Amino acid sequence: MSETPKTPVAILLSGRGSNATALIEACARPDFPARICLVLSNKPDAPGLDMARAAGLETVAIDHRLYKKDRKAHERAVDAALQKAGAEVVCLAGYMRLLTPFLTTQWAGKMLNIHPSLLPVFPGLHTHERALDAGVRIHGCTVHLVTEGMDEGPILGQAAVPVLPGDTAEGLAARVLRQEHQLYPEVLRRYLTKSPASTPAEAALLVA
Ligand code: GAR
Repeated sequence: MSETPKTPVAILLSGRGSNATALIEACARPDFPARICLVLSNKPDAPGLDMARAAGLETVAIDHRLYKKDRKAHERAVDAALQKAGAEVVCLAGYMRLLTPFLTTQWAGKMLNIHPSLLPVFPGLHTHERALDAGVRIHGCTVHLVTEGMDEGPILGQAAVPVLPGDTAEGLAARVLRQEHQLYPEVLRRYLTKSPASTPAEAALLVA
């Protein structure tokens, strides 16, 4: 039986790395079409870096604070690390930096992001609080291609989560996060194998 070809994928993160963990676990499956070639963080103390190191992966920290306000210089260093690792695709997984056109152009069509809302509603921060304040009944998460505008690129997949009576932002966030962990590997698989959702049920990937 022929083995599934594995595309080298880099993960960028800034924090705890639970989405990175979900991607790493998916990549460990022999039939998953990706392998993680690098986990990179702008924060040297990000718990996600420790997790990746413990998983035996290549990691690097490129501390944005060392570059002062020169965002492009920081991104040049990030890009150099991605190229050196042989990355062909980049997954942002809680990478909390606004990107400049340098990185978004360099990786156009090859950089994915996960965002904790059903874009285009609630781009930016505090999405769960804003969903509760707006009184929406359905919330969720989105995986999209990264473009210059923040949280604006073409949507590759979404997962919906009902908002329950009495929900708190923390409770809602935890339920959305569980869906993120399902959604991201599944969308990455479809993206790499060029097999987009073919039915409405697949397109609305998961309804918790
Ligand atoms: C996730 O909820 C992710 O969707 C969000 O940050 C969290 C990271 O958690 N990303 C954004 O808000 C990007 N705009 P994790 O480090 O446990 O994956």
